[in-house]
This record gives sequence, C-alpha cells and structure tokens, in this order.
Amino acid sequence: MEPSTQKLIHTFGALADLGQEIAGTGDFTEMVRTSMHLLLGTLALRRGAVVECSGPGPLRCVAIWGLGDQALDGFEIDEAEMESFRDGEIRESLSKYRDKLANEGIELVVPMVVRGEVTGLVLLGGKASGEEFSNDDFETIRAMVRHIGVGIHTHRLLEQVAQRAEENRRLYDELRTIYRDTVRAFAAAIDIKDKYTQGHSERVGRYSEIIAREMGWSEEEVEGIQIAGYLHDIGKLIVDRDIINAPYKIDAKNSSELNRHPNAGYEILAPIRHPYADIPFMAKHHHERLDGRGYPDGLTDQQIPMGAKIVSLADSFDAMTTDRPYKRRRSFEDVVVDLRENSGKQFDGKVVAAFARALLKEVKGETRERRIMKMLGKTYLEGDQVETLLTDLISDLEGDYSRQEAKAQSL
Ligand SMILES: [Fe+2]
Repeated sequence: MEPSTQKLIHTFGALADLGQEIAGTGDFTEMVRTSMHLLLGTLALRRGAVVECSGPGPLRCVAIWGLGDQALDGFEIDEAEMESFRDGEIRESLSKYRDKLANEGIELVVPMVVRGEVTGLVLLGGKASGEEFSNDDFETIRAMVRHIGVGIHTHRLLEQVAQRAEENRRLYDELRTIYRDTVRAFAAAIDIKDKYTQGHSERVGRYSEIIAREMGWSEEEVEGIQIAGYLHDIGKLIVDRDIINAPYKIDAKNSSELNRHPNAGYEILAPIRHPYADIPFMAKHHHERLDGRGYPDGLTDQQIPMGAKIVSLADSFDAMTTDRPYKRRRSFEDVVVDLRENSGKQFDGKVVAAFARALLKEVKGETRERRIMKMLGKTYLEGDQVETLLTDLISDLEGDYSRQEAKAQSL
C-alpha cells in the first residue's frame, strides 16, 4: 500500500473515531480533550489547545496539551478579530498575541465555525518531525476541526435546551404555587364568613388529601382532591352571612337557602381551568349520600364521584369533631359509631376504612407526622380504646365489602 493511501485510511479512521466521540453523551470536557488528542495524533503534532469563545472577550481553554496549563490565560479577542474568524480560514497566529504564541510554539490558529457562528479556536503547534504542513494536512485539520466545532455547538444547544427546560419547570412550579396560594386564600375567605368553623375548609382539604393518599391515588390526584377540599364550600360565599352563622338550627326556608351552596360552588368553579379535573364536581356533590337522600341531585352510590365521597366524609368528620354554636363536638367513640352506622347510607365504607387506616397508623406511631391527630388536638384521642375502636371499625367495614363482592360475584 502506498504511503499516501495508508495516510488517507489513517485519517479516515481518525475522523470516524472523532465522529463517535462527538456523538457520545459523556462528559463534554473529556470529549473535547479526546478529540484534540486524535487531531494531534493524526498529524503527529507536539502541542495544541482548544478554546471556546462565543463572542468578543476572554478565551475559555477547554483542552490543552504540550503547553503550560496557564499558557493561554488572560487571552482576549476583540470584536474585529472575532468577526474575521467567520471565514473559517487557517491563520498563523492571533494579532494581539503573536509573540506570546510564537514563544509557546503555536504555528496555526484554526477557527471553528458552525452555521456561520464562531464557536471557538483550535491552536496547533508544529509537527514533531519538523516538516512543514502540506495541503493534505490542512484539509485534514479543517475536517477534524469542523467536527470538534460541531461537538461544541451541539453541547451549547443542549445546554440551552436544559436551561430552558429548567426555566419552564421553575415557571410551572411558580404557577402552581400561585394557584395553591390563591386557593388557600379563598378557603380562608370562606372560613372567615363562617365564624364558628374557623379553619374548616383547610382541615377538609387536609383530611381529603390524607384519605386519597391512603386509597392509593396518584400524587397529582391527591393534590387535586386537596384543592377540592379547600374549595368545597366556596358556594357559601353567596349565602347570607346570618344564615351561615345562625346560633341555632336553621328553619326549612333558610336551610334551602343554605343548600344552594353546592350548586353555587359548581357555578363559581366550573369556568376556571383547574390543573386537576373534576374539582367543580367534587364541590357540587359533597352533600350527596349513597342512599340518594343527599342534595343537590339526590345521586346514589355509583353516581357520586369518588372525590366527592372523600370530601363528604372529610367535611362531616370535621363537623363532628369541632365545636359548633349549637352543640359541642362529639366524643371519638360516638364519631366511630356514627361512621359505622352511616357507612353504606351516607358514606362510602371504603372511604371510611381508608380514613380509619390512616388514623390508626398515626395512633400506632407508624407515620412520621401525626397530621390528623394534630388537627384533632392533644386531648381528643386520649384513652387506650382508640386503637381498638379503629381496628374494629376497619375489620367491620372490610367484612362488609368482602361480603358485597362475594354477593356481586354470585349474581
Ligand atoms: Fe358544604
């Protein structure tokens, strides 16, 4: 094989290696360093460097070989010279640093130009053999430097994409925070109107979230139901303050006025594009009952959205466990009896069981935070029968639905 053919094959091999190196997803600096070594090795050059520059200003050395580590420190390119690099032509030096570069043994400066943009420069020393560069050498240098330039350009694009993605993520997070804060502000506004149930909406939001998580809902759905809990009584904003705050049980007329609030809530929430589906329906149906005796639509079990069933339980549980103007809160034992009796009538047994499981975990100290217990206050769950009450409730309810399932299968 003729030496020139051999050299050509060698160069092709080096270019292929370089292509692979640049397409790799590894470390950027390592990619540039390996590429430079391939270039130096192909032409048997003693020294070289790859510097990045995206405009006039200081050069950033990415890879250096055979020169002092700080050989190019402090080098800057002015606008005119930067502009002149756009032709991509190989030159002997940099105008401002001619002597310095000559002292370092740099003989060629090759701009890397990709799509008309200068991405950097490759500085090369002479051949180890002392021979002059041939035209073939220049061709090889041009081809390889183009490859390295593309590598740097691609890296910059990827960096920009990552930066944009990060920026978008941050903006999205900010929007979510704003949405959540707005929702909480609304919840606070609803609760202020109802002076006896301070913090009710906030607690319903939290209870709903805990139940949904216990039922295995996805994080996004859990966040959605929490919002639905915060906003479930938003329709009360249109109900007369005196009716909401009546210190006695209200009469039928006022009761029907108050019962408008689920539909009113739906009307308020429906036009808003919530990040979670079904929030307006959860507000609309939080007073429905499984037995069809609820309002506003008298829906039955299967017709009531699961989210509304969760909010309904959270709402009732908070009503039972907080003091109201006309009655004190009920004892925990009493509440458990109510939940048991009304499972399958007012509440969905699966939802009640999930809530009981979440509370039992807290009581047994199996969770890091005791969120339900904190909302109920220190003294509420005192006494050692709490665990038994919850365990019995759970096994009763689970027995209920295994019987239901067996019945459904036998049909
Ligand atoms: Fe309500």
